[in-house]
Amino acid sequence: MHVTRHAEARTVLTDTRYVPPPVPQDGREGTLAWLRAQVSRFSTGDAHARRRRAVVERLAAIDPADLRSAARAMTLERDGEWRGIPTQVLEAALGIKDTAAVPAAASGYLTGEAGPEADAAVAALLDQADLPAVTLLLQAHAATEGLIDNALKHATWDGDQPDPRSSATPRSAPTGIDVEALLHETLRHDPPLKATRRLDTRTGDEVTIDLVAVNRDPDVFPDPDRFDPTRGPVPHMTFGHGVRPCPAPDHALALAAGVLEGLL
Ligand code: HEM
Repeated sequence: MHVTRHAEARTVLTDTRYVPPPVPQDGREGTLAWLRAQVSRFSTGDAHARRRRAVVERLAAIDPADLRSAARAMTLERDGEWRGIPTQVLEAALGIKDTAAVPAAASGYLTGEAGPEADAAVAALLDQADLPAVTLLLQAHAATEGLIDNALKHATWDGDQPDPRSSATPRSAPTGIDVEALLHETLRHDPPLKATRRLDTRTGDEVTIDLVAVNRDPDVFPDPDRFDPTRGPVPHMTFGHGVRPCPAPDHALALAAGVLEGLL
């Protein structure tokens, strides 16, 4: 089943009959396959509730405002070379010293496509951090960078202002860019995660929730294809919904907003 309507997506995501497609449980300890079998994202029932509580507790100790100012400061310090900054800021907030391994571990986290490089990266991360911290880093990495990439595509520049995307050097900001509004509408119009999947435990059917289509459902979003940062808060589903939404939308927005402030 391919879900493209907002109401149907809400129904699926709030019904415990639909679970994330199970991942293999027999990976060798310390590998990416093993990690995927341990994290909240791919678990159900009591294990999901317990693992989710552990990441939520860890997140509660991190103030999004601190992430935002650290991301802004680091982006300015590095002359706009922002890639890697959200992950490094989060790693510092989690008390981890070196997450050079995150991109390689994160590359197969959602798909399960593991190779020796991803397995070595997972092992390096687990040497320094516990499971909740590793879960947070891997969940955050690609989605947050994807949001920043997409927001930069939508930023509009005054004709005579240099476009900061064309250079690593930060330039003076075009006046009037509202970073929050840009991010919210980017999340709706151009989500970094395009779909999420569920298994219907009654029928065995796979369900794909098409977040791009759901976020442009004309019953919910007037003129849905138009990128309009003046919409204000809208019920996009980019952070999920229902039983297991993203527990960190404020942290994600803070990291992205800090980087954009440093760039724009
Ligand atoms: C723009 C950035 C982000 C987006 C769009 C996003 C989106 C999502 C979505 C859609 C889910 C639910 C997936 C599903 O069940 O189908 C999810 C889960 C999760 N996200 Fe995020 N996320 C983002 C950033 C972050 C960040 C920065 C963190 C941590 C600091 C984080 C931590 C998590 C965790 C731990 C889960 C698993 C929750 C659970 O198992 O119950 N995410 N995210």
